[in-house]
This record gives sequence, structure tokens and C-alpha cells, in this order.
Amino acid sequence: MDPGEVRVAAGGIDPRHAGPSPSSFFQSPRWSRPGRLVEVDLNPSARTPAAVAEGDPERYAARLRESPPEVASLLGRVPLLETPPLDPSWLRYEMLERFRVLQGAPIAKGASILEVGAGAHAIATVPLASRVGPGGHVVAIELSRWSHFREIVAACGMDDRVDPVRADARHLPHPSKRFEVATCLHGVRSLRSEAAMVRVFREMLRVGRSLFLAESLPTAHTEAQRAHLAMYDLREEVFRALGGGPDDLGYRSLSRLCELIEEAGGEVRSSEVLDVDLPHALALFPRALIEGVQEPRLRADLLGRWDRAHELGQRHGTDHPPVGILLAEGSA
Ligand SMILES: C[S@@+](CC[C@H](N)C(=O)[O-])C[C@H]1O[C@@H](n2cnc3c(N)ncnc32)[C@H](O)[C@@H]1O
Repeated sequence: MDPGEVRVAAGGIDPRHAGPSPSSFFQSPRWSRPGRLVEVDLNPSARTPAAVAEGDPERYAARLRESPPEVASLLGRVPLLETPPLDPSWLRYEMLERFRVLQGAPIAKGASILEVGAGAHAIATVPLASRVGPGGHVVAIELSRWSHFREIVAACGMDDRVDPVRADARHLPHPSKRFEVATCLHGVRSLRSEAAMVRVFREMLRVGRSLFLAESLPTAHTEAQRAHLAMYDLREEVFRALGGGPDDLGYRSLSRLCELIEEAGGEVRSSEVLDVDLPHALALFPRALIEGVQEPRLRADLLGRWDRAHELGQRHGTDHPPVGILLAEGSA
């Protein structure tokens, strides 16, 4: 299932989407064997100026106790990843979050699911594959990022039911109503424009009997959520100022997501907002990146905002903002 094994959908990939991701600014990861702790490199020169993004083992354990027992045993198989400055367990935290947002999803054992925007770490793919069980099937669509997909899916014992497909979700290579549910978890933000979101939702409604979305909302109830948003909201502006595309767009409100689904021909059947109560350090990006912004006043403004966002994160930690969860069906 590495890029050599990933099926490429007919029509190929738009080369404009093949660029590096902001996460590639972090050091390249080293994998440990599942279940084994890795030694974190404490050499300060090996880190970004940002402090280590701390894990929160007590809260993780509390959320795990609220989950079905099979979730704990599966997360125990997820490789620890040494990616300074992130805590080596960050992938387990993120997968636990995906299990939580999927709790109310209408996904039955044996179901056939389409996933849009699977990403390099299969963060939602593994929880989806666990939900469908050994008789089920997850087709994981991703435009360009496959770097760790194979190792993670295999380590979790899910490769018998995951079918990775390299494709642009604006043109899905599947017949109508092939899947029980078409999902996109924390991927709407990466679809580059609202026009692209509408096109992707239309495709998901075409091939799936229902559409299930989960995406962070631009709201905060706690200081730790505010700290996450302060750093996250800088990303689009910084990447634009550096001359690249918007890698991650600002989070959309729940009502805006509903409007976009309706524009795509869908009818929203249910919506809810979930406070997942878990840390989330992935919005962090190196301050040094902003030094590359040419315009001096903009650079100074962005550096000041990065410092304030970082300071907030140091003081309060950074948490997932509330997550909007939407279930829709095609209106036709
Ligand atoms: C935020 S990331 C990973 C989200 C992942 N589902 C999770 O739970 O963390 C979203 C992914 O969507 C992919 N993506 C963006 N536009 C896409 C498109 N038009 N078709 C397929 N994948 C796309 C990006 O390459 C990126 O890897």
C-alpha cells in the first residue's frame, strides 16, 4: 500500500496538489515497534523553538476508559512516532479523537465505507476499518500523502479491509451508491476552497447512501481550545504569504458546512457539536518559517501573532476545538 501499491484512479493527479505539506517542516519521523516506547531526542538544536508539545496521559487514559475495550487494545498497536517537538504518542491521541467523533456514525459491521482525505497517517482510516470489522471494507481516497499509511494500517492489523486509492475526490472513480457511507473526518479543511468542498460533497453524495462529516469548528470554550485556534488560524495566512496555496483553510462554522452540503444537493439529517476533550498539538508550525515572508510589516505582524499563540499554548496547552458532526443524504 505504499505509493507503489496504491491504486491510482483513472484521470491521474493534478500536479498542483503534489507539493510538500507544512508537516514536512517537522523533522522526519523515526518509527518504533508497536507498543515500545522510543527515546525522544532532547537535543534542543533538534527542535523547533516551540517547546515540546506535551501529551496528557491522564486525560488520554480517562477518554480511553469511556471507549469500548477494543479501542484500547487497538491503540496499543499504533506505532509511537518520534517527531520532535510532538509527543511520541500523538498518533494514538489523534486516533482516539477519531474513534470519539465516529461514536454516533451509522457504520455497521460489514459495511462498505468511502473515506475522503485519508492522509499520510491513516488517522481516521484505522478507526473506520475497526468499525466495519473483518467483513467490511474502507476505500481510502487521498490525493498525495501516503508516507506512513502502509506501516500504520498493517501495524493495526487492518490491511485486509483497507483499499487505498490515490485520487482527487472532486472526481471519484466509483459508480453511484457504491458505499453505505461516504466520510470525511478532519479533512474538509484541506479541500483548498469552498468550491472544492461543494464538488467533493456532491461526489460523496453520488457514491454514498449517506454523507458523514466531522470537522473542527472555529469556536472555543476553554483557553486550551483558544490557544489551538490562535496557532491554527495563522497557518492559512502564513502559507499564502510564503507564496504557496492555503494548505489548511480556516475552520468553517457548522451553519456554513450545512450550507455547503445543501449547495452540493444534500439534505442535512442531523448535526451535533462534540467536545472531544483531548489535546491537539498538530497546528503548531516552526516560527522560523515566518522569517521567509518578504514583506517586513506583514512578517513582523505574523511573528508577533505566532509568539502570542505560542505563549497561550505554553500556558494552557492546546486542545481540539469543538467538532461539528454532520449526517446528510442526497435530496434527489
Ligand atoms: C487534514 S489531512 C488528513 C485528515 C485525516 N482524515 C485525519 O483524520 O486526520 C486531509 C487530507 O486530504 C487530502 N486532500 C486534499 N484535497 C483532496 C482531494 N481533492 N482529494 C483527495 N484528498 C484530498 C490532503 O492531501 C490531506 O492529506
